[in-house]
Order: sequence, then C-alpha cells, then structure tokens
Amino acid sequence: MRAAYIERLGSPDVIRYGDQPTPEPGPTDVLVDVRAVSVNHVDTFVRSGAWRTPLTFPFVIGRDLTGTVAAVGAGVHRFRPGDRVWCNSLGHDGRQGAAAEQVVVPVDRLYRLPEGADPYETVALAHPAATAYLGLFTHGRLRSGETVVVVGAAGNVGSALVVMAAAAGGRVIAVASERDAEYCRGIGADHVIDYRDPDVPGRIRAAAPAGADLYLDASGMNDLETAVDLLAGRGRIVLLAGLRSRPELPVGPLYLRDRSVLGFAISHATPGELAEAASAINRLVADGSLRPRAVERLHLSDAAEAHRRLEEGKVRGKLVLSRDAKG
Ligand SMILES: NC(=O)c1ccc[n+]([C@@H]2O[C@H](COP(=O)([O-])OP(=O)(O)OC[C@H]3O[C@@H](n4cnc5c(N)ncnc54)[C@H](OP(=O)(O)O)[C@@H]3O)[C@@H](O)[C@H]2O)c1
Repeated sequence: MRAAYIERLGSPDVIRYGDQPTPEPGPTDVLVDVRAVSVNHVDTFVRSGAWRTPLTFPFVIGRDLTGTVAAVGAGVHRFRPGDRVWCNSLGHDGRQGAAAEQVVVPVDRLYRLPEGADPYETVALAHPAATAYLGLFTHGRLRSGETVVVVGAAGNVGSALVVMAAAAGGRVIAVASERDAEYCRGIGADHVIDYRDPDVPGRIRAAAPAGADLYLDASGMNDLETAVDLLAGRGRIVLLAGLRSRPELPVGPLYLRDRSVLGFAISHATPGELAEAASAINRLVADGSLRPRAVERLHLSDAAEAHRRLEEGKVRGKLVLSRDAKG
C-alpha cells in the first residue's frame, strides 16, 4: 500500500511517498481504508522533532483520518466492515500515522462518522475541534453563562472554540482580523474585536466589564500581562499555542483573585477524553453547526508540499490529503 512516511526526522524534504507493508490489526484494532488525512501544525512538529514523541522508522506521518472499516480484530464488536469512521490520535506515542492507504486504529480511538457527514470536512475538524473541546471543557471547565475570550477566533482551533463555547451557553468575545468579523459573528460570537485595534484590552473590558471567566489564545500571542487583568475572579487562562512564546506573568494579580493559568496539549488526552470530545464534535457536525472554514484538497503524494506550505504560514483553513485528489 502507498503511504507518506519518513525514515528520519528533518525538514519536509525527508517525507517520502511509496510502498509500505499493509499493517495487521491486532485483536482490539480496526483496519481502515483511508479516505482523507488532514495536515496539522503538530504533524510538522513530530516530523521535524520540534516535539518529541516515541516513534519507529519508517514512520507513516499524520494524525487524523476519515475512512471506511476494512476489517476488525477478533475482539472488536462496535464496528463492522463498511462503517464510515474517523480518528484523531494516530502518528504519535508509538502509533504509526494516518497518511496511508490503509491504517490500523485501536478501537478505543475510532469514532463513527455521522450520517451524511463529508469525510473531507470532518477530517479537517478532527484535530482543531477536539482541541477546542478539551480547552473549553476538560481543562477550562466552561459553564453555561460564562464569558469566554477567544483570541485567533477565525482560525481552525479558534472557530471551533467559538462554535462550541456558544453552543454551551457561553458569551463569546472573539478577537480576530477585521475581515473575519462577519464570519465570527456568523458562528456565534457575541462581540468581535479587531486584533489590529490599538486598544484590544480596552475593547474586551468594555464587552466584559465583570471580567472574562475563560481566556484562550489560539494565535499563540499569549499576552499574559494583559490577559490576567481581563479575568474575573477565579477566571482561567488556557494556554494551547505559541510553542516558543515567553510571556511575563503578573503573579500578584493572578493569585490574589484566585485566577489560574493552565496549559494542555491534545497529545496527552486519554482515549476517554478524546472519545468525549468526539461525541460532542459528532453532535455539532450532525446538526450542521460545526464546519471547517476552508478545505483545500491535495493528493497524498503531496504531503511534503503540504508540510512546507503550513510551515511557511501560507495556509488558511486546512489542507487535506487524499488519494482521489489530483496529484
Ligand atoms: N495545544 C494543543 O493541543 C493544540 C492542538 C491544535 C493546535 N494547536 C496550536 O493552535 C494554534 C492555532 O492553530 P490553527 O490551526 O487554528 O491555526 P490558524 O488556522 O492559522 O489560526 C490562527 C489564527 O490566529 C489569527 N491571528 C494571527 N495573529 C493574531 C493576533 N495578533 N491576534 C489575534 N489573532 C491573530 C490568524 O488570523 P490571520 O489569518 O489574520 O493571520 C488566524 O485566524 C497553532 O499554534 C497550533 O500549533 C495546539
């Protein structure tokens, strides 16, 4: 079977496209015919070694997929050949990746695609929307009626944060480019603030005079000096982007009002936490409220080019690899 794989860590040039042995499912695994694979920032971190995770070479790259069940292990009863499925946790922690014609997925990491869901759109949501769910609920402990600031609200993660926070009864203040204001309102933001405004903190304060309960920054700017001051008592800042940012933290204003800063990476989420996120995503995909902003399809053999473009900051929306796109 054909796959995009690497034999050592390095630049996008180390990605090869060619034949690899078809994987064998174990008793609690599912063999999936892959339809589509998304390309995420984290895939570039794994490939380059910027983020270290156990892997064996040759290593098939990629984390998320949609596809169809080809065969199930003897202990698998939840799926049958022909079922449409998705997964968002291959390609790290010792598991081979998703960018192949066939992959093996542990059954507790596989979810059913909602009826009618588009496999290219759903794969584009798999990573950012699960990240948004974990940030808002697992780590951010969002409750209905709370005020949520989302910085980078028009991006892949940011837009999922807006949709999910609004669906949970949150009041959403989105910080995004002015050209994305209409889009952010359309997906559920109550207020939109242009990130180029000279007084973004003042605008957030005006929209949330009692302070924000939750503050998430998907742009990775992580201006904690400002963010801490914008929080209500017991407000939470959830850090999820900006691998190399080194912000200053105003400690007094943080602990004197029981505020907190916490961080997370989806890569450490348990199968149970990911499954909970997947159920929420499936509900929102099924009712049409969660959709990716933009999807560009490339052939699986263009994986190196996809990584290059993502690293150059030249992608808006998601690149999705598939065998049925033109190569
Ligand atoms: N912790 C985790 O588990 C986890 C999981 C997934 C992703 N991530 C990280 O999340 C980040 C976002 O990923 P993504 O796919 O959502 O990227 P993305 O689609 O490129 O979104 C980033 C957004 O930030 C906006 N932005 C840029 N500068 C800004 C500023 N100064 N203020 C406010 N917004 C600004 C961009 O707007 P413009 O288009 O106008 O530039 C864009 O809409 C990445 O760093 C990724 O590594 C972390």
